[in-house]
Amino acid sequence: MRRIAFWSPKGGVGKTTLALNFAAAAYYAGHKVLVCDVDPQQSAVDVFNEKKLPFSVVPQEPQVMPNVDFLIYDHAPDINNIPKIETIIMPMRASILDLKAVNRSIRHIRDKRVIRCINAVDTRRHDERMMAMKLYSEGAHLIKDRSIYVRSLAQGETVFQQQKYGSKDAQNELNRLLDRILAGRD
Ligand SMILES: Nc1ncnc2c1ncn2[C@@H]1O[C@H](COP(=O)(O)OP(=O)(O)O)[C@@H](O)[C@H]1O
Ligand SMILES: [Mg+2]
Repeated sequence: MRRIAFWSPKGGVGKTTLALNFAAAAYYAGHKVLVCDVDPQQSAVDVFNEKKLPFSVVPQEPQVMPNVDFLIYDHAPDINNIPKIETIIMPMRASILDLKAVNRSIRHIRDKRVIRCINAVDTRRHDERMMAMKLYSEGAHLIKDRSIYVRSLAQGETVFQQQKYGSKDAQNELNRLLDRILAGRD
């Protein structure tokens, strides 16, 4: 079983959005998936309660280890609470303040695989595009700013359950993140 934490010292950077959509990428690739919502805001649970997700979301750490291929954690933005598991995906925006906060917390993380995920990149903005490209060249994963991410979660679904404009591109960028996790080269 692989355990993946979506964690960042910052709020509103896409932890819940990416945790649920990454879970969907793994689910539709044929893996058994469980999402564990350890954020007191319980946003992932709110989405699950719409009863349209094809996998389960539990509201706390399971007491007994579940029989799944992927256990995916949606964390609170708590800088003092670094996840105790081996793989951390850190969503962040292509902004200098996010970069500083993320790099500061990465310095405290030892013996873990950390993948920075630059989320909601607006490629029409020059500064944002340049920063995203620089971080990409340093190994970060890029996820673009797409309204399909907002719209699908508002409907209790992931981008994998949508056929609308942009959903295939969104699915592809999540599948690439899944391939990277499965390849385990970081
Ligand atoms: N790639 C994206 N493109 C467009 N909007 C996004 C994207 N990722 C997240 N959002 C939006 O940004 C906001 C914050 O995302 P959320 O997943 O709730 O962040 P967090 O869990 O880190 O607080 C939400 O309104 C969400 O719909
Ligand atoms: Mg959240």
